[in-house]
Amino acid sequence: MPLVDMRDMLNHAYRNSYAVGGFDLVSLDFLEAILAAAENCRSPVILSLAESHFEHYDFELAMAATEKAARRAEVPVAIHLDHGASQESAVRAINLGCNGVMVDASHESFPVNVAQTRRVVEMAHACGVAVEGELGYVAGVEGEDAAKHPGENQYTSVEEAKAYVVRTGVDCLAVSIGTVHGRLRGKPKLDCDRLKRINDAVKIPLVIHGGTGLADEQYRKLISHGVAKINYYTALADAAGSRIRANARADARCGYTGLVKGMQESIREEVERVMRLWGSAGRAAEVLVQCQAWQPVEHVIIYNVEHVPDAQVEAMMARGREMLATIPGVRRVVTGWAVADKPRYRFCWLIEFTHRTVIDSYREHPLHRQFADNLFRPIAVDRVSVDFEHVDAAPAVPVSRVRESAAG
Ligand code: 13P
Repeated sequence: MPLVDMRDMLNHAYRNSYAVGGFDLVSLDFLEAILAAAENCRSPVILSLAESHFEHYDFELAMAATEKAARRAEVPVAIHLDHGASQESAVRAINLGCNGVMVDASHESFPVNVAQTRRVVEMAHACGVAVEGELGYVAGVEGEDAAKHPGENQYTSVEEAKAYVVRTGVDCLAVSIGTVHGRLRGKPKLDCDRLKRINDAVKIPLVIHGGTGLADEQYRKLISHGVAKINYYTALADAAGSRIRANARADARCGYTGLVKGMQESIREEVERVMRLWGSAGRAAEVLVQCQAWQPVEHVIIYNVEHVPDAQVEAMMARGREMLATIPGVRRVVTGWAVADKPRYRFCWLIEFTHRTVIDSYREHPLHRQFADNLFRPIAVDRVSVDFEHVDAAPAVPVSRVRESAAG
């Protein structure tokens, strides 16, 4: 159950003056370490998957593991697409299970950024999914990931931020006030006065990208001016890298498992450190009580056809699987034939929606209308349709406990 609505999670952090970490994961080691840290600290957490990292892993496989881990976690979790490249990326991420998305148009002009973000918001909100927008540009300086954010920082304008939030309808706003992606060169200077004025103007949770490397006091100041989500990656990659190098020095002939030994602990320790620093530690219980659970819905149709050969039904099902699976918020389309000889109904659709909001947006979607009106309803006159929300009865199994028992 502990997948929760990301909007609720961020609003809770914003109202209660702490920040949730959006930790980019690049492997199962990161996933397990981040969740173990969250469970140890009793902290809400955002598992973040950045499109610029898709060269390192298969997004679809990573999402399967991420969702599984999130659902069995003991603490509230949201799953977020970080720096998505396009509307298509956002639809894919939502259909694979993300309940927060960011499509990064911050390098575009203000009107183009507004228009692109607005489109993402319309689509994502129809799926119940939260959207992060970015205004101003957070560049990279050096080190892990910096090269993916070339150019110079462009600070967020207060006036534009106000207009951007109203026109796009984003749920949280990433701002540029002096942080950079990657390892820092020198001590960063943050424009906290600008941040305060942005917060006063927009009054929605603010997001900091380039979270690595700030002083403790700087994090506290950011949070006091409305920052409710801090994106964090390079420090975790560096903690992992240091451990691997130490392992290699200790045994120059060691293989893969020898090299990564203890790496999860190094990542976990760094995640726990910032969860305590940012004030999210100890908040899990109240977030679980106050945030809506993120539960999929099964759209179930059972039906009969009259005077139609099975081959035609099969062709109709195949076309439906193809068309309906591309609709935003549709996670899975299954078609079935009854096993029994003379059942009350012979055929079924099992269509999984990301969230109950999709019940309406799916019904109105042009692809659904086209399929239902032209191919399905004319031959399936005798049919029953019901939407079921999942009920999670399974007790949560903490990641740390699973790992302990796996270790014997
Ligand atoms: P760092 O790599 O500087 O921590 O930034 C991460 C980030 O902003 C991902 O969106």
